[in-house]
Amino acid sequence: MTDARSSDDRLRDSVDRPSSARVYDYILGGTHHYAIDRDFAERQLAIMPEMRLAMQANRAFLGRAVRYAVDQGVRQFVDIGSGLPTVGNVHEVADEAAPGQCRVVYVDNEPIARAHAEILLADTADPDRHRALLGDFFDHARLWDEIVATGLIDRTRPTCLLVVGILHFMPPERDPEASLAFYRERLAPGSLLVLSHGSRRADDAQQREVERNYQQTTNRMHLRTAEEFLPFFGDWTLAEPGIVPAARWRPDAATRFADDPDRAPVLAGVARKGGDGSATA
Ligand SMILES: C[S@@+](CC[C@H](N)C(=O)[O-])C[C@H]1O[C@@H](n2cnc3c(N)ncnc32)[C@H](O)[C@@H]1O
Repeated sequence: MTDARSSDDRLRDSVDRPSSARVYDYILGGTHHYAIDRDFAERQLAIMPEMRLAMQANRAFLGRAVRYAVDQGVRQFVDIGSGLPTVGNVHEVADEAAPGQCRVVYVDNEPIARAHAEILLADTADPDRHRALLGDFFDHARLWDEIVATGLIDRTRPTCLLVVGILHFMPPERDPEASLAFYRERLAPGSLLVLSHGSRRADDAQQREVERNYQQTTNRMHLRTAEEFLPFFGDWTLAEPGIVPAARWRPDAATRFADDPDRAPVLAGVARKGGDGSATA
């Protein structure tokens, strides 16, 4: 299923309503947001203050997962739903871990996010190794062709595919599992899949209210439990420690709430293609 609207429609839509990308950027302390995003974010934080912790835990997980991928020898990255890069972007983390060696293709379907990404990449990136595309996760066949056409991803070598903090904007009726399966099939053995997802808590009225309020933004929110999240990994093998709260995924000295991860309700996991078993929670 693709987004048939024109890019003008999408641009208008993305400034008339709060955008999940800009709300995330505001809550994380970035600079790419408008009054409509800030007002929405503050109203949600008043209802569910731990939303900020969840976003911080998610962003920190992304950094640890990229370092893990570099440690595993992976040197090419595709980041779908990359958002508004403020700090700790994939190319920055990867370049710190393996200077000058990693190639990164960023994808987002938000025109403003893409425009900001291009400006930021012009300042901080290497055009021979880093690229930002405007594209939609659900438009998988065309998007994959565009990713390959950048010339940055060698399809015969392991790739780290990141789909971090966006699957909870994909309700079941849009069948995100099918799009993810398409990408998984195209990646070479040894590739890594890095996923995180807002975690649905049982009987949490505040969380339900925030989920409902997100219907007013450019992205509908649909939280999932760990059992509902697991199928996104397909038959790939989960790296230790499996699907866990993000703060518990290979915490380092800087990780907050590793001993109380439920304070930040976001699930995370990394899986490898070509392992010796099925994904298990
Ligand atoms: C919360 S941000 C996550 C940013 C980053 N991945 C991270 O975890 O720090 C979610 C991003 O997903 C993007 N997004 C949502 N649906 C998308 C889709 N169907 N295709 C591409 N990007 C999408 C939004 O525009 C937004 O920038």
